[in-house]
Amino acid sequence: MPNNTLNLSGKHILLGVSGGIAAYKAPILVRRLVEAGAIVQVVMTANAHHFVTTTTLQAVSGHVVRDDLWDQAAEAAMGHIELARWADHILVAPATAGTIARLANGEASDLLSTLCLASNAPVSLAPAMNQQMFAHPAVQRNLTTLKTDGYQIVGPDSGDQACGDTGLGRMTEPEEIVQALNASSAKIGTGPLAGQTLMVTTGPTREAIDPVRYISNHSSGLQGLAVAEAGRQAGARVILIAGPGVDPCHGDIARFNVTSAQEMYDRVHEHLPETDLFIGVAAVADYRPANAQQQKIKRHTQAEDQVQLPLIENPDIIASVVQAQQAKVVVGFAAETNDTLQNAREKRARKKLDAIVVNDVSDQRIGFNSLDNAVTLIHTGGEIDFGVQPKTAIAEQLISQLAELFAPKLQA
Ligand code: PMT
Repeated sequence: MPNNTLNLSGKHILLGVSGGIAAYKAPILVRRLVEAGAIVQVVMTANAHHFVTTTTLQAVSGHVVRDDLWDQAAEAAMGHIELARWADHILVAPATAGTIARLANGEASDLLSTLCLASNAPVSLAPAMNQQMFAHPAVQRNLTTLKTDGYQIVGPDSGDQACGDTGLGRMTEPEEIVQALNASSAKIGTGPLAGQTLMVTTGPTREAIDPVRYISNHSSGLQGLAVAEAGRQAGARVILIAGPGVDPCHGDIARFNVTSAQEMYDRVHEHLPETDLFIGVAAVADYRPANAQQQKIKRHTQAEDQVQLPLIENPDIIASVVQAQQAKVVVGFAAETNDTLQNAREKRARKKLDAIVVNDVSDQRIGFNSLDNAVTLIHTGGEIDFGVQPKTAIAEQLISQLAELFAPKLQA
């Protein structure tokens, strides 16, 4: 049954399970996280296998459990770096004394410790161990180091322990761990875009020809998703207007799904009065069929070899955003296949944008539907190149540049 008091909706939680007796509670923890709306992937240390099975964790999470940095089949599906980037939050529960020591020392000696190093997501640890071990100065020193490094420590609790001792060292109950995660993920409002509302459009639009056919393009929405996430991490309140087929986003992002350009236009204008910074990443169809048919067009209804499909122009969403003068800063993207910079400069001037981010979509390594991109940010004061790199990295750098370049306008 969904838990209505918690909202981890759409959040990617990477649960690290290390080898202590409290690992038997890990399946319950996964259930509670999933009930709160999270998408959970589990990583086990080698010792965790002594206490809980991959079969159980796989069944409750609905995802393959990872336990080996060198598993070639698993790496081929989602490499450990991708897994590290996938995570919105890493939770290690139970976190044994050994795991805590590895993390405090910055070791990359197994999959879990490597992921903690390779991710920029917040990490929470729920320590669980014998009370004497927990009290040991080495463990306390390691926890202090981890707190200084920004780790969140949840618990432990005091009480009867599996070993017969009584004292501080029991893993905090799964429900309370989920509460703590929920509270920490609700902390927004710090960073260079704190106090600003960012609206991002992403993905393709679909323009109906008839009930079964449409005109669209190859956009996956990944670049816009990354921009929205980078905005969230920079402290903005984020509104995402997403075309069809775009992956899930962080639960703190207010997301509205649309299909056609007209629907995107309507949603954008509905939320424009709240928007400070608008970034149009969506690949909006410029034209739509003039007369979308209510019934499927039959193959042989016309005698001619050729079928005519009259098109009419869709609204130019970003131009209308500029015209409305509600957002303080309006940034467009430009997908070009030739004369890239020149076309983008002209597009920026024609649409009266504060800045435009151009990518050459004729390059198969980048742009549409790939994990990487390479862009140039063109603004009044100059042009900045961002070489080939993951869309997530591009998004982070863009957001930080835009926050700096337009700070006077945004904070006016
Ligand atoms: O989604 P991905 O697979 O990750 O790929 C990313 C991307 C290639 C789609 C992205 O980086 C990109 O280039 N987005 C802009 C695509 C585009 O439609 O470019 P354009 O040059 O046709 O449009 C220029 C600007 O006008 C864009 O900000 C676009 O959102 C906007 N526009 C265009 C047409 C229209 N009717 N309304 C608009 O608002």
